[in-house]
Amino acid sequence: KRRCKRSRFTLKTSDDPTPVSVGVKRVREDEISDASSVLDRAKRMNNEILNINNPVGREVKRAKTKEEVHINPWTQCEYSSKYYEILEKRKELPVYEAYDTLIELVQENQIIILQGETGSGKTTQVPQFLLDSGIAGYKNVACTQPRRVAAMSVAKRVAEEMDVILGEEVGYCIRFDDCTSMKTRLKYMTDGMLLREAMADPLLSRYSIICLDEAHERILNTDILLGLIKEVLPKRPDLRLVVMSATMDAEKFQTYFEGSPLLDVPGRMFPVEVYYTEQPEEDYFVAAIRTVIQIHSYEDKGDILLFLTGEEEIENACNAIKETVEKLEKVGDLSVIPLYSSLPPTMQQRIFEDPPPKNSKGIEGRKCIVSTNIAETSLTIDGIVYVVDPGFHKEKVYNPRLRIESLLVSPISKASAKQRSGRAGRTRPGKCFRIYTEETYKKELEENTIPEILRSNLGQVVLTLKKLGINDLVHFEFMDPPAPETLMRALEELNYLGALDDEGELTKIGNEMSQLPLDPNLAKMLIDSVGRRCSGEICSIVSLLSVPNVFMRPKDCVKKADIAKSKFAHPDGDHFTLLSAFESYKFNKEDPNWCWENFINFRSMKSASNIRAQLVSQMNGFGYSIELSSKRPKEYIDKIKMSIISAFFMQVAHQEKGGHYSIVKDNQIVLLHPSTTLENKPEWVLYHEFVLTSKNFIRTITEINPKWLLQIAPEYYDLDKFPNNDIKKKLSYLQTLLTNP
Ligand code: CDP
Ligand code: MG
Repeated sequence: KRRCKRSRFTLKTSDDPTPVSVGVKRVREDEISDASSVLDRAKRMNNEILNINNPVGREVKRAKTKEEVHINPWTQCEYSSKYYEILEKRKELPVYEAYDTLIELVQENQIIILQGETGSGKTTQVPQFLLDSGIAGYKNVACTQPRRVAAMSVAKRVAEEMDVILGEEVGYCIRFDDCTSMKTRLKYMTDGMLLREAMADPLLSRYSIICLDEAHERILNTDILLGLIKEVLPKRPDLRLVVMSATMDAEKFQTYFEGSPLLDVPGRMFPVEVYYTEQPEEDYFVAAIRTVIQIHSYEDKGDILLFLTGEEEIENACNAIKETVEKLEKVGDLSVIPLYSSLPPTMQQRIFEDPPPKNSKGIEGRKCIVSTNIAETSLTIDGIVYVVDPGFHKEKVYNPRLRIESLLVSPISKASAKQRSGRAGRTRPGKCFRIYTEETYKKELEENTIPEILRSNLGQVVLTLKKLGINDLVHFEFMDPPAPETLMRALEELNYLGALDDEGELTKIGNEMSQLPLDPNLAKMLIDSVGRRCSGEICSIVSLLSVPNVFMRPKDCVKKADIAKSKFAHPDGDHFTLLSAFESYKFNKEDPNWCWENFINFRSMKSASNIRAQLVSQMNGFGYSIELSSKRPKEYIDKIKMSIISAFFMQVAHQEKGGHYSIVKDNQIVLLHPSTTLENKPEWVLYHEFVLTSKNFIRTITEINPKWLLQIAPEYYDLDKFPNNDIKKKLSYLQTLLTNP
């Protein structure tokens, strides 16, 4: 029998100001017993301002018969029994008590800040209140979410709450998936999608109220939206902004939107005991799993939430936990559920399932959710009593010198740690096990997470702002302005890509690039391919580069997986290998079994296919036709390579004497990632990604002819500005050959 090492924890609650306000003011008894719905309550309050175009408004203006009280004004159908069931739960949410104040504040102020503990009902209730009360008028309500998963799952929930069909009155809109219709009045969407709409409709004229949700997360697009809406508000006196955040940083928003009132919704939090490890743990993953097992074996009833950093880690953890629990006796059933953004929606729904019932030995079961940061604030899972927090998340880091953005596993901030522990006290007193020492918490964790805008390549931001008509980027009111050098570098890169002219104005290509839901480089590659008449292939490659890795390599069958992949290997490089895997997938009728047998990630292929279709339709919208060639002689392969170069000429490496590679212009030494299907090491390669691990790798590599660099990107390859080295010598020689053939 395996012995389970126990992590030693010490209890420490004192410095964690988790609010302990269990018995806050209850909803008035008469309101609870009153069978009237939220809608009716809203109507009573606001009937004087109801708009005639509002179905709710119309409802009020007619004299109501007894039966009609049970009629859903959105659908004119009788409410289902589920509606009433959920309604009872909704009435218990803390924001329900803030209804009157909220409506009053929104009526009187253009901007309000709403702060409330996670799970208090901000995301699901507030947009509904605004709609039901009638103050939204006949225009729509938008509620933005940083994460696609949250936008979908919340829209689904709210559709149930309103007793309507998802996609009709309530819908969601995320990149590559628009589930809305003409009827849609409440739209949950990612921040990015609202920005996209602003490009076509700068005054956001179809909305009367915008809720910027999860504002405390300060993702890139939220920050742009904050600045943008701040500029729009004076031009749209009828527009209202509700900035919603978990209990963090509210003062900062109040300073940014001077004079805006703060509505603080007190949470109903139960106390959470916080435990730290006595010693630093060598391997947080192993320690985290051990802790979950300990909880399951020794602690009282209640579900577990474990925070890890990404898909692979989460899947491995789920397997490890399941295997260990199977060997244990005298414990209840444990259902282990993963949660991360690339999980298909039906799988994501599993987090809301009930825990397993008592087993044959009479021991209660529980569920254990293993999640990324999604569960930190954007999704609330009821029933969590134990939180296991190793203190890490994946964070985007930008290295402006190498111009690379990478996702690195980094320590979380104190603010995040507090949010995570708070997840344990939603339904009853809970416990949070931090897999780090108290010393680490106090001395090493930053107070707050650094806003994404300060950690990003600003290429896409600049392109978006330009398209939004904001030319004076230096004076754009960012909540946290990025460093001027980072902005300048982004402008310079976009100029190299041909998206901005020398005056910094958007070019025709730039204009199109800004409308494609892609990074500037991928967008450039796609548009460039039209002129070279290889757009069909490039469109597939772009789609494949936009999804998680297509090739699976499970730890226990690495060899088989590599053999399977070698069947798709293309001598010219990994971009082509991806393409041939995609084409085989299509040839095999998108069959999941074929994917499984060939170690191909079916979900990635499916979404690549979906993305491709959308890109094709968008390109057609620009008036470009997308062509695919049935034969691919060398010249054709070269054309594809040239299109890739037109966008990624800044990501080229040259093989040096020792066999290693050096990045052109940067002198950074790199190795080809072992996943490459290139068999011999070409002298010149273009890479898609820079992977920072113990060694510096470049990944997704294709062989290129250096001559093309000089021809396609002469400004970037202005050799006078090159450092004096081997690369410069070689390119100069080529240059002379080109000019004097
Ligand atoms: O936005 P906030 O964190 O304040 O709360 P919310 O997301 O509006 O969630 C309020 C409540 O709705 C949660 O406590 C859940 O009980 C419930 N909910 C649900 O059951 N299913 C969902 N998909 C979302 C929320
Ligand atoms: Mg929320």
